[in-house]
Parts: sequence; C-alpha cells; structure tokens
Amino acid sequence: MAIERTLSIIKPDAVNKNIIGKIYSRFESNGLKIVAAKMVYLSEREAEGFYAVHRERPFFRDLVKFMTSGPVMVQVLEGENAIAKNRDLMGATDPKKAAPGTIRADFASSIDANAVHGSDSPETAAVEIAYFFPSSEIYSR
Ligand code: TYD
Repeated sequence: MAIERTLSIIKPDAVNKNIIGKIYSRFESNGLKIVAAKMVYLSEREAEGFYAVHRERPFFRDLVKFMTSGPVMVQVLEGENAIAKNRDLMGATDPKKAAPGTIRADFASSIDANAVHGSDSPETAAVEIAYFFPSSEIYSR
C-alpha cells in the first residue's frame, strides 16, 4: 500500500478539552507519524479559505465561527494509506453516527463541534497540506 500524507486538524473544542495528546496517541498507535505540526489561531479569512468548498452550504458561517473560536492544532500525518486510515480513526462527521472507538464517537459533542478534520482524498490532502505547511516544514524520513 502507498505511503501517503494527509492533513489533520484538532479543532477548537478538542484543544479546549485538553485532549491533543489523547488524539495524537491514536494516530501514533495506528501507524500514522506526525511529520509536521503547529498550533494556529485561524483568522476568519483563513478559515473561510480552508473551507472554501463549503462556501454555499447552510452551515458555512457557523463552521467559520466555530473554527475561529479558539486555537487549533494542525498536523501532517504520514503512513500507509494515511488518508483513509485517518478518516477511519476520526469516524463519521456526526458523532452520533460515528462508530464506537472512533475519535468523534469518544470525544466530539455535536456535528459542528466534532473534534477533528481530516483530508478526504489525495487531491484535497495535497491542497490542504500546502495551505498550512511549506515543504521545508515537513520532516519526513
Ligand atoms: P464535511 O466535509 O462534510 O465533513 P468531514 O469533516 O467529516 O469531512 O463537513 C466539514 C465540516 O462542516 C464538518 O466537520 C462539520 C461541519 N458541518 C456542519 O456543521 N453541519 C453539517 O451538516 C455538515 C455536513 C458539516
């Protein structure tokens, strides 16, 4: 299977709950390596740009408001099948529908405050990683 990279964000609700470490251990114990990381307090413009694909969706303003409500932890995860693996670890968007043992089932409280973001395809992973990290800030083997 291919070694991939994916962009992960620990959202303001999870940073505020002080569970960055718990979420990091799930990545690490499932074969995903953190190869870049930083804490960022997104501006409105940055959050709008990151979620531009959702611009026309009814939840867009609330999503931007939530993502700018506190600092987030942004990281690049690297490993075999990293994009799908991270999505599996995250669980469904709505924590009520997320499988038991997933990050969202265990730590998220609602569909909008749902603890984590993860890229959903190789194309979005490339765009989202570049949105936060120049290649000089990614420390791979
Ligand atoms: P989406 O890309 O559909 O989900 P995922 O994060 O699982 O890839 O949506 C992006 C974010 O938008 C989602 O994490 C939370 C928010 N959102 C809502 O607030 N309400 C909604 O009905 C949906 C679909 C998403």
